[in-house]
Order: sequence, then structure tokens, then C-alpha cells
Amino acid sequence: MKREDLVVGIVGLSMGRHHVEGMVKAGINIGAICDVNEETLHKIGDENGIPKEKRFTDYKDLVNNPEINVAVLVTPDQLHRPMTEDFLAAGKHVLCEKPLAITLEDVKAIVAAAKKADKKFMVGQICHFTPAFIKAKELLDAGAIGELYYVESEYAHDYHWIMHGWRRDPNRHGVVGGGCHAVDLLRWFAGDPEEVFAYGTHKLLPMCDYNDATISVLKFPNNVIGKVFVSTGCKRNYTMRTLLYGTKGTIICDNKSDTMQLFTVEEDGITVKKEPEIIPIEINHHNTLGEFEVFADHLINDTPVEMDAVQGAKTVAACMAIVESSTTGVPVKPDYNF
Ligand SMILES: NC(=O)c1ccc[n+]([C@@H]2O[C@H](COP(=O)([O-])OP(=O)(O)OC[C@H]3O[C@@H](n4cnc5c(N)ncnc54)[C@H](O)[C@@H]3O)[C@@H](O)[C@H]2O)c1
Repeated sequence: MKREDLVVGIVGLSMGRHHVEGMVKAGINIGAICDVNEETLHKIGDENGIPKEKRFTDYKDLVNNPEINVAVLVTPDQLHRPMTEDFLAAGKHVLCEKPLAITLEDVKAIVAAAKKADKKFMVGQICHFTPAFIKAKELLDAGAIGELYYVESEYAHDYHWIMHGWRRDPNRHGVVGGGCHAVDLLRWFAGDPEEVFAYGTHKLLPMCDYNDATISVLKFPNNVIGKVFVSTGCKRNYTMRTLLYGTKGTIICDNKSDTMQLFTVEEDGITVKKEPEIIPIEINHHNTLGEFEVFADHLINDTPVEMDAVQGAKTVAACMAIVESSTTGVPVKPDYNF
């Protein structure tokens, strides 16, 4: 498949507007956009020069359109499963927003559909495309901080004004819905957590039925320990402050900061240098185009998708284990059998 052969249909245009804008800028052929909300549909269509005949309110019109060969799903989490199943069954490649799904049943169904299909599926875990985190991963892999022993990330976001409709589904716990970013990020850096233990509290979002802040400690492979803090009602600006501690240095970064800090040691291998290196970083925490370009590369070169359905499922499994531990008060070993 060549780049010019890609014909993309984008479903869900709230967060999905970032996907549309990025693709228009990059000259990707948008075959259709879709949203049940006509006002949103036409607003995004007008702003991005998408002709009226390419605007739809029923996603089945995209499923049944033979020209469209890639679907990008940016719809409420509960719709990821039926839409993925329909598009894959119709022979389209699918890029689906995180979290993969919010029930184990749906997660397993998506994994099964993706394994059965001869088309590609990718889950949009955006942190893999966030400049600060890409740089942190590069430094880690290059040995800049020695051997990893502790990782920490937080997802602190105020959902107060968006906590309605599908986000109030009891299955859409903050750790699964938004905290999956931090959990997925630490999985990328340190591997799949083998066991988790968590506490939760509920003081900020009275309209939701679950804890709005959760702290979890995680045991990773290779004697790496970690911590994830999730708060979906916090009174501060959005942050995903992330720390990586190694035997020869430390990285401190954030998806909302234009610099990151790299602490390293002197030639003796022990004494920490007085000042950290300050590394300039582009802030781009919604790098949906970077995400799509990676998916497009997989399609063009027919290479295996790194962020496939199983990876999305493992992240949800680790998140669900954290929620379970915070409710039962006992450590939980995530089940990664997908
Ligand atoms: N990667 C990220 O950083 C990030 C950020 C925000 C949201 N998300 C994910 O993106 C998805 C959408 O989130 P959002 O914030 O845009 O939610 P939202 O509620 O703001 O918007 C959802 C959009 O989907 C439309 N929609 C609902 N049902 C539809 C249907 N059947 N067919 C077509 N359109 C439909 C709605 O009208 C709305 O415009 C979710 O899975 C969410 O978890 C990811």
C-alpha cells in the first residue's frame, strides 16, 4: 500500500478534531468524517475544508464505503468494541483511541477481532508519541541513567466539567479511563507490572460512583519498583509528571513542560553532577498526527503494529488490577492472558 492509497474515515470529532486537523495538515486523504452530533460534524467539517458529501452522522456509512480503508475511532470508550468489530469485519484497518475498552469482556472481544482480521489494528496510547516521553525512552535505552530501579508517573487532570454522560459509567474508573496513560507509560519503560497494591479516596467528584484519586505501588520485572498516582478531580493544571530513577542517573519529565531534567554521575560513576542537564522539549501532548504516521508506516511497509490490541489489553488489565486492589485492600497480580 502506498501513502496516497490511504483513505481515512474518522469517527467522533471532539478529541477527534485533533486527528482531523493533523491529517489535513499532513495531506492525508480524508474519505469521510462522522459524528452523531450534527453541529460538531459541520463545525469540524467547515473548519477543515471537508466537503459536505464526506460528512456523516451514521458510522455504518463509513463501514459500507468501499473507498475507505482506514478507520480512526475517537468515540466514547463503550463504542470502541462494536465499531472496531464492524470496521475490521468490513476489511478496514483500525486505529482506536485509548483505553482499548472498559470491560474485560469488550477488551477480550477486541483482541479476538484483531487476531482474526487480516487487517491491522492499533490502540492510540498517545504517550508513545509525546516528545518528552520519547526522549526519556531514548535516554533510558541508551543507558544514560544506568539500570532502572524505580519509575513513577502521575495522571492529574480535572474532569469536573466533563464528568457526565458516558464518562460516568461505573466501569470508567479514573484509573482505566485517564490513568491508563500513566500505567501504559510505565509499562513502556519498565515492562508489565507483576503485582500492584492501591488505595483510593473520593473527595472531588461527587457525581461519580468511584474513587477520584488513587495511589498504587507496582512491582515490575527485574527488581524495578514503581508508583502511579491518578487524580481526575485535582485542582491544578493537567500534568503527567514522570520520573525514572537509574543506578547512574535520573530523568524528570512531563508532557506539559518544555524542558526535561537529566541527572547523571561524574566519571567515578558514583558522584552525582551538581547540575542536571536541561533538555529542551516540544510540548505536544496530543500528537495524534505522530501517532497516525506510525500507523500509516505499518500499513505502507506491512510491518507488525507495536501498540496492538494485546498491548492495549495489558494496559487495561494492569489498570483494572489497581482498581481491584484499591477496593479490596489486597495486592493483585494482573492477568495478562490475552
Ligand atoms: N489520547 C488522548 O489523550 C485522549 C484525550 C481525550 C479523549 N481520548 C479518548 O478519545 C475518545 C473520545 O473522547 P472525547 O474526549 O472526544 O469524548 P467526547 O464525549 O468529548 O466526544 C465524543 C464524540 O463522539 C461523538 N459520538 C458519540 N457517539 C457516536 C457515534 N455512535 N457515532 C459517531 N460519533 C459519536 C459525540 O457526539 C462526540 O462528538 C475516548 O475513547 C477517550 O477516552 C483520548
